[in-house]
Amino acid sequence: MRTIIAPSILGCNYGRLASAAAGLERDGADWIHLDVMDGVFVPVLTFGAGVARSICSEVSIPVDAHLMVEQPAVLIEDFAKAGCRYITIHPESSEKHIHRVLGRIRELGCSPGLALNPATPPEIVRWVADLLDLVLIMAVNPGYGGQKHISATREKICTVRRILDEAGREDVLISVDGGVDSSNAKKLVDAGASVLVSGSYITSSSDRAGAIDSLKV
Ligand code: DX5
Ligand code: ZN
Repeated sequence: MRTIIAPSILGCNYGRLASAAAGLERDGADWIHLDVMDGVFVPVLTFGAGVARSICSEVSIPVDAHLMVEQPAVLIEDFAKAGCRYITIHPESSEKHIHRVLGRIRELGCSPGLALNPATPPEIVRWVADLLDLVLIMAVNPGYGGQKHISATREKICTVRRILDEAGREDVLISVDGGVDSSNAKKLVDAGASVLVSGSYITSSSDRAGAIDSLKV
């Protein structure tokens, strides 16, 4: 399977996010990655399901909502109704029952994802492997675009791939998010990532199509 490129629109003009997403689709993006931040789980506040709805209506590729929020359970229905295909939550949030939230994402007709912060042990994946379609491995501490990529992420990707394969879930996608660019894309894919989320590398480029293409390794 070819690597899936999911540009993050975190660094785009917030007055024109839907048209930015449509432009990225024309430039060759496979998915659009939405960084939803509540100002509590991370210091920054971005946007909610209303903006996600506008974006989903302007693109035909899957929209991947990465919820960096304290209380994902109260938000997932709105993001599902907005048209997001993937909804990814963090186990480090205040949500005490991630089984229930992941199951609810599936009931809402979406694909559940679990995001792991850089310091979060990968073993957690083993206990929810049956519920997942995606594991999002953070290669930066969430909150901001343009941070330095943590290279130890590659080891975590290998570990998560092994845990998923041992659980009989070879089909679960591993996505990597944070500081992804053409210098590390191939190493991440070789380690087992099949989705590359990339923000500033793509959106700060004067040739977004070329930047997306350079990640298709
Ligand atoms: C970080 C976000 C990332 C970020 C990626 O909190 O989850 O999706 O936007 O941006 P870059 O590629 O610039 O690290
Ligand atoms: Zn993200």
